[in-house]
Amino acid sequence: MSDTATVSAPDLRSRPSSNGLEGVIAASTRLSRVDGAAGRLTLAGFAIEELAPKASFEEVAHLLWTDRLPNTAELHDLRADLARRRRLPAATLDWLQHAAAAEVAPMDALRTAAATVCVETAGVSDPREQARTLLAVLPVALATYERLRRGDGTAKNAAPSEEELEALGDADLATGFLTLLDGPPSAKSAQPPHPERVRALTTYLNTVADHGLNASTFTARVIVATGSDMVSAVTGAIGALKGPLHGGAPGPALDDLLAIAAGANASNSDTATYAETYLRAKLARGERLMGFGHRVYRVRDPRAEVLNEAAEAWLGSAGGDRELLRLAREVESTALRLLSEHKPDRKLHTNVEFYTALLLHSLGLPSDLFAPMFALGRTAGWTAHALEQLEYGRLIRPSATYIGDEGRSWQPAAAR
Ligand code: ACO
Repeated sequence: MSDTATVSAPDLRSRPSSNGLEGVIAASTRLSRVDGAAGRLTLAGFAIEELAPKASFEEVAHLLWTDRLPNTAELHDLRADLARRRRLPAATLDWLQHAAAAEVAPMDALRTAAATVCVETAGVSDPREQARTLLAVLPVALATYERLRRGDGTAKNAAPSEEELEALGDADLATGFLTLLDGPPSAKSAQPPHPERVRALTTYLNTVADHGLNASTFTARVIVATGSDMVSAVTGAIGALKGPLHGGAPGPALDDLLAIAAGANASNSDTATYAETYLRAKLARGERLMGFGHRVYRVRDPRAEVLNEAAEAWLGSAGGDRELLRLAREVESTALRLLSEHKPDRKLHTNVEFYTALLLHSLGLPSDLFAPMFALGRTAGWTAHALEQLEYGRLIRPSATYIGDEGRSWQPAAAR
């Protein structure tokens, strides 16, 4: 057939059912087990409900990297080592300054910041070392970016100084991040972050640290399986996480909650009635309700409850805005009712992103930092999966069914 013949484009949606790789086993892992029917998640054998609210993030990272919780000395060593690596390479700061001037979205800023970490890992062949450096540098990069874009002083002093980083000692990730985020010592009351705020953020980071062979983790594994490095794997994984069907959902989920609160107020209706009108209109427009539905879970995502309880504990201790928590629960139950009408056979339930939105907002983070925060937590899982993949040492290279045209013949441009 000539290339000039009119052919209808192949319908890529009339596809083999494995087009989204549903149900395809592409790896073995000891890192996390996701039971979608029962709504259970375990990390290296620990139920997420037990591990996430109790462990420090460094304990979870150690568990994923080595399959063991650290003893006291090992935990001390890991924290001291991460503290030593917690500095911002000049190339990273340079990029962040350009990005802030161009008002680049934080997730894009973090992705490219991750790529610049190669200046720290150049010549470091041990992927475990590369993993530690990424875990230490990325929170500093993200906090710095937030300070730069909100204009804390000049670009130069918005970046944390040597002394400021030194003063963090071997603080855990959440303490270090929140301290840096709150601003340079001169710009604030020098209060350390509230312990319950640190606990809530740590619980969040632990909750999202790993989750089977999700899209971004698969991306990381594919990258290292080619013999590439950790920096490339994490950079690619951040790119995969960014999409609204994966880690980009909580910002829009919060937007919906805030729009419902504002709309109910403006129209003098009660929030339940307004939520129903708002969510029905979204579904009628063919839009998805963000924070609901999951490729694997057919019941409520167990992480939603862990984050709901973390939000409850934090708001209880801080005397924060419990009205949003009440609204979230109301919106959740309305959304679930509408989704069961909309897709009765699909079993659409609340996923991790709905309560992520609520929790991170209540911790004072702007909504476009939600996906980058997810990336900070998931860096532990991505790098652990990458290490696991390196143990297998096998290239990941699936096949595709070709459904295009055959036997076309070349014509010069003028003859087409
Ligand atoms: N709202 C409305 N309808 C939905 C939703 C939703 N949240 N989720 C799925 N559906 C519908 C789809 O439109 C589709 O309908 P169709 O068959 O008429 O086309 C049907 O349910 C099946 O959806 P799929 O996209 O095939 O299911 P998949 O398993 O691929 O999707 C996903 C999972 C992407 C998470 C989906 O539920 C979704 O888009 N949710 C909203 C975004 C979101 O919350 N993402 C975060 C996920 S958690 C995470 O990644 C950390």
